[in-house]
Amino acid sequence: MVQPATTRRQRSWAEPFKIKMVELLKTTTAEERQRAIAEAGYNTFLLKSQDVYIDLLTDSGVSAMSDRQWAGMMLGDEAYAGSANFYHLEATVRECYSYRHTVPTHQGRGAEHILSRLLIKPGDYVPGNMYFTTTRLHQELAGGTFVDVIVDEAHDAQHEGLFKGNVDIAKLDALVARVGAERIPYVSLATCVNMAGGQPVSMANIKALRAWCDKHGVRLVHDMTRVAENAYFIQQREAGYAHRSVASIVHEICAQTDAATMSAKKDALVNIGGFLAMNDDDLYRRACDMIVVYEGLHTYGGLAGRDMEAMAIGIRESIDDNHIKARVGQVEYLGKKLEDAGVPIVRPVGGHAVFLDAKRILPHVPQAQYPAQALAAALYVDSGVRAMERGVVSAGRDAEGRDHMPRLELVRLTIPRRVYTQAHMDVVAESVIEVAEHARDVRGLRFTYEPDVLRFFLGRFEPVA
Ligand code: F0G
Repeated sequence: MVQPATTRRQRSWAEPFKIKMVELLKTTTAEERQRAIAEAGYNTFLLKSQDVYIDLLTDSGVSAMSDRQWAGMMLGDEAYAGSANFYHLEATVRECYSYRHTVPTHQGRGAEHILSRLLIKPGDYVPGNMYFTTTRLHQELAGGTFVDVIVDEAHDAQHEGLFKGNVDIAKLDALVARVGAERIPYVSLATCVNMAGGQPVSMANIKALRAWCDKHGVRLVHDMTRVAENAYFIQQREAGYAHRSVASIVHEICAQTDAATMSAKKDALVNIGGFLAMNDDDLYRRACDMIVVYEGLHTYGGLAGRDMEAMAIGIRESIDDNHIKARVGQVEYLGKKLEDAGVPIVRPVGGHAVFLDAKRILPHVPQAQYPAQALAAALYVDSGVRAMERGVVSAGRDAEGRDHMPRLELVRLTIPRRVYTQAHMDVVAESVIEVAEHARDVRGLRFTYEPDVLRFFLGRFEPVA
């Protein structure tokens, strides 16, 4: 007789899909890669994709779409105004994410731009659970000052906290005491905090934040780029949520907040697109007035009808329990391999990426010589695996021109959704382990060209002698 499932041993997860089409990968020699990285100024953003073997630069816009999404692309209603696909997207956002109004944008930063200009006045302060590069820049361009209010342990790569994305409410209280609630247009809450290592926020913290915002008359704005991954961690880690679906947790998170910016290129499984969403009718009207200036009409916002259709379908697929379990499961698989080999990574492993702790891997390279940038370049040369710096280069400079010196100096191995197999993860792990073993050979870098803003994208470097 078959035993009931509860007494059987835990089974492995597997991808809840099979593969219908493949893209062939190109391999290169070490000499070719050495030349390519030098030509790219030791910046993985400047490599040609054709010179990359396994591409873990980002999880943004690089998902594999499902057959249903591709079928949806054929249903694109390419009308300038009032496309059927917009109404499908709007209804999906309302149902899955709770927000009453949706304004499509070309991608996440399009939504950040509009929102920042609508809500921030010069001299305002915008508290958030760790900065994100484009988000903070748009806040600053609108005249605001970003204030980090994430819990202290988020800045400690080795701290084992289960919800290292949480907001420290005492830091918000201190900010109000310093500047007054009227100088705070909103609190910026990111779910599964990217720069902290993909660390989640707990539902208890989100609810406490809601209460705090109500008390002070401050809006709560949600960067919901990776909300499904956050919901999965709540299901796995927070008391009372083990038997709840990821979809219902996603809805509950969103319903605590007033407005949201979304880069649909991540969770929502599309190659391009985003939106600004909100409940407030007046804010919606003002957003529509501004979107026609910068993105397009309020029913397409810079997207084709087919893009909005693929997004609407992708949103539903992204909050399916089996999808998200396999997605995070793959990230955890890679993390465990590296940990078992003794490679220092950010603990616990987050939702979208494994983050290498460059400070501990390259203790001989001072932070002023960009250890994470150097490590990402060395990894590429070893195997053609492309990763991304998330340290002092990404953090940029403050208003006085001084480098922000983040405690976290990381290389992000970002896993695209539904793209690579477990065997690819094995190859990545082998390369990282090899590079870490020969870390003494890796030299620091200095800028040969440093852009004024978002310098990590286009900056160029050379090795320090
Ligand atoms: N917010 C978060 C948390 C993000 O991770 C990103 C993009 C954005 C906003 C901006 O969205 O790219 O669509 O304009 N993150 C990408 C990454 C670029 O690689 O982490 P976008």
